[in-house]
Amino acid sequence: MKKFTWTCPSNIALIKYWGKKPHQIPCNASLSMTLSKASTELSLELHSKDSKSSEIECDYYFEGKKNEKFEHRVREFLQTQQVHFPFLKDFALHFQSKNSFPHSTGIASSASAFGAIALALCDAKNQLSGVEKNSNFMQEASNIARQGSGSACRSLFPSYALWGKVEDVTNSSDEYAIPITDVHLNFQNMCDAILIVDSAPKKVSSSLGHSLMNNHPYAAQRFVQANQRVSEMISVLRNGDYERYIQLTESEALTLHAMMLTSHDYYLLMRPQTLEIIEKIFKFRQETKIPVCFTLDAGPNIHLLYANSYQEKVEEFLNSELKNHIQEIKWDKIGLGPQNKK
Ligand code: PMV
Repeated sequence: MKKFTWTCPSNIALIKYWGKKPHQIPCNASLSMTLSKASTELSLELHSKDSKSSEIECDYYFEGKKNEKFEHRVREFLQTQQVHFPFLKDFALHFQSKNSFPHSTGIASSASAFGAIALALCDAKNQLSGVEKNSNFMQEASNIARQGSGSACRSLFPSYALWGKVEDVTNSSDEYAIPITDVHLNFQNMCDAILIVDSAPKKVSSSLGHSLMNNHPYAAQRFVQANQRVSEMISVLRNGDYERYIQLTESEALTLHAMMLTSHDYYLLMRPQTLEIIEKIFKFRQETKIPVCFTLDAGPNIHLLYANSYQEKVEEFLNSELKNHIQEIKWDKIGLGPQNKK
């Protein structure tokens, strides 16, 4: 039996991916911050197969229990990967995973899981064929992760990652993410306090959300805007401009939700507490001049972003102003990317 174990973090997009073409090719570029604590630890075991069948045999255990729904998704994904990983049909594959953040708040979910699955598969392929890991390893894994869950491809790099072809970044690609390395000190130690206002599973899946961009009246303009914002955010990260970072990040969160509000069918994922918290963040920033801002995923929970030098002030603010609006806070921060456990 051979075993490959990887921990892969989740990521939070600053510039959002929303809308996709076939084969998980994004309609626009996106840029994210890799998290540190929200992660999936996954082991892939390759056992000898009882039968000689050419079918893929796999089971998937999440936190010690068989997870039929995710197993089905993983099996479908593996079926699309047979050319890349010819060994898949030679073994019985046993996946076991656990998340650092319990409960289904969507914080460490498909992005971190597919990141870890892709890493384990690429690692297995290399070891079975006696190939040393080379500098392309993460890029290859990112490409594979994308095919499982789009945003997962950004989780494989430390700090900040760019996914999608943008004119002014020569090695950028729609097929995999690349790391953004030239980052000003202001943005090297960012924290993300994830304010859980509702931990119920997503009402509308992100696959459905992406598909609603296909006939969306504002889609074309949105894709142009996102690509321009990715380029601008790369310069902002380089020059340390908090003010522009805040404007871009918050506008992106609201634009993502505006796309949902104006799609056919329209839907609404923010909760009343989401809006109350956003207003309190605006007020706190105005009064204190502390550069904190928010972003949102495809859900009601708020990611509060700030440099770690403001940790104490932010905690005071959360305790005094927001306690009643929040079920739980997950304290996270910028992270170093995946880890291989031997
Ligand atoms: O990777 P998916 O298909 O779950 O889509 C993620 C979409 C957002 O989280 C809303 C934005 C993003 O870029 O991560």
